[in-house]
Amino acid sequence: MLLETTQHTLSIMDYVQIIQNQVKSLHKEDSSGHDWFHVKRVYDMAMHLQSIEGGDKEIIQLAALLHDISDHKLNGGKLNQGGKVAVELLTKHHYPIEKAMEVMRIVDAVSYKGAQVADDMLTIEGKIVQDADRLDAIGAIGIARAFAFGGSRNRAMYIPNMPPVLHDSFENYANAKSHTINHFYEKLLLLKDRLHTKTAQKIGTERHQFMELYLNQFYTEWDAKYE
Ligand code: ADP
Ligand code: NI
Repeated sequence: MLLETTQHTLSIMDYVQIIQNQVKSLHKEDSSGHDWFHVKRVYDMAMHLQSIEGGDKEIIQLAALLHDISDHKLNGGKLNQGGKVAVELLTKHHYPIEKAMEVMRIVDAVSYKGAQVADDMLTIEGKIVQDADRLDAIGAIGIARAFAFGGSRNRAMYIPNMPPVLHDSFENYANAKSHTINHFYEKLLLLKDRLHTKTAQKIGTERHQFMELYLNQFYTEWDAKYE
């Protein structure tokens, strides 16, 4: 049973290290808000949420590291590819297939798919990774990431009289082209009520308030009249 022996030579710490190195190099060139530091913040936040809310630490660690491995925003528009890539990376290093499939289910479900599209995250591990990812999309860092992303797609910062759209399918949401201020109404301001865990909801409330303050200031400066 040589295969069996190989399967158990790596510890979870080894897997986290290997995957972390791969993810670091894959996200290295990004300037759209999905750089390695985004992944690291999601990982650290997921660990914080896990320490309070529970859940299988190993699955959360790997899913947090792999959550944006092949996101539609980064891979040329292909939806639901990340899980497959995650499983390939994990099983290449003989990570047990059942656990790799669990990571896959989280990676495929983690992304926001539109204001009117349901989130089907069933496990505590998935909820924690999704909460951590969503917390990084709101607050001061969330604002910075939204404008960085918008800029990377040649999107205008703001165009008055162009209202937001509450998308009812992932395809429509993924293919939409609007200005970045609309993104706040189409996603960022809706996230507060779509966080699963109590710990994330508490952190989210503060970040949400900061975005409201920011938008008020934005409109005040935009509409300012000096006479
Ligand atoms: P998700 O997969 O749930 O969208 P990500 O970790 O990939 O989460 O983060 C998405 C990031 O990209 C967020 O910070 C979000 O603000 C930004 N983003 C996505 N779509 C747009 C958009 N249309 N305009 C501005 N920012 C966007
Ligand atoms: Ni992310």
